[in-house]
Amino acid sequence: MDQRGAEHWVVHRDRYDRMYEPFQDALLAAADIRSGESVLDVGCGYGTTTLAAAALARPGPVTGIDLSPTMLALARAGAAGTSTVSFVEDDAQTHDFPPSSFDVVVSRFGVMFFADPLAAFATLRRATRPGGRLAFVAWRSPADQPWLCVPGAAVARYVELPDLTNGGGPGMFALADADRVRALLGAAGWTGVELAPVTTPLLLGRSPEDTVDFLRSGSLGSRTLDGTDADTEARALAEARAALARYTRPDGVRLDAGVWLVQARA
Ligand SMILES: C[S@@+](CC[C@H](N)C(=O)[O-])C[C@H]1O[C@@H](n2cnc3c(N)ncnc32)[C@H](O)[C@@H]1O
Repeated sequence: MDQRGAEHWVVHRDRYDRMYEPFQDALLAAADIRSGESVLDVGCGYGTTTLAAAALARPGPVTGIDLSPTMLALARAGAAGTSTVSFVEDDAQTHDFPPSSFDVVVSRFGVMFFADPLAAFATLRRATRPGGRLAFVAWRSPADQPWLCVPGAAVARYVELPDLTNGGGPGMFALADADRVRALLGAAGWTGVELAPVTTPLLLGRSPEDTVDFLRSGSLGSRTLDGTDADTEARALAEARAALARYTRPDGVRLDAGVWLVQARA
């Protein structure tokens, strides 16, 4: 995740939390965290999932790890007074976790950015006690994301869309291929790997205008439209607003998004 992506998450924190609440609910139900268990939240960001896990694990300890000091400053502020929660600023791929120190490892969209995912999932497996659980949510393919395809198709009439998959490299769609996820986790020593598709209509914004502003200011919007002349960009964004107007409900713009809910055992 680049710096711009991290800044977008910080600025739009409440919106992201609202959008991803159904995925977090599915994640925590699958993780089945019990009172007293020790939990690791990977790529914890500003700590929303960390705190929700802590409420389930209490009095068990919950650790959030993230690379971003900006995200972690917010996470620490949000967890002030919660004595069972701590945060680590480091790369989860290489961090020197005490072996077998966690009962459960969870992540809400924090495990797609590893330079070497095999090494990273092996590190996380060593940090988990034998029989412990891994549960995370990660995006399915771009084609499973109407919330991106609808505005994307409108904008594509004016500009060329970037390769959202980054050729299978680190990024939002790094774990979109179910067979690759099974192979990676198996090679990293995880067993009983299961992937379940979860699809839910995301509440993207109050209106088409608000939604387009939100998407344009994020890293995908930036990769798509930065460098485009002002006139072309204005026409592309007007087309996107018109496309999104068809998905406006009483509470705002809603479009489906699809993730894998991945579970495994150490
Ligand atoms: C899409 S955000 C998700 C944040 C949080 N899990 C949430 O749902 O609000 C991805 C997070 O993963 C973090 N991250 C990316 N690569 C990482 C790594 N190798 N080790 C630790 N954190 C990482 C980023 O800094 C970012 O905060």
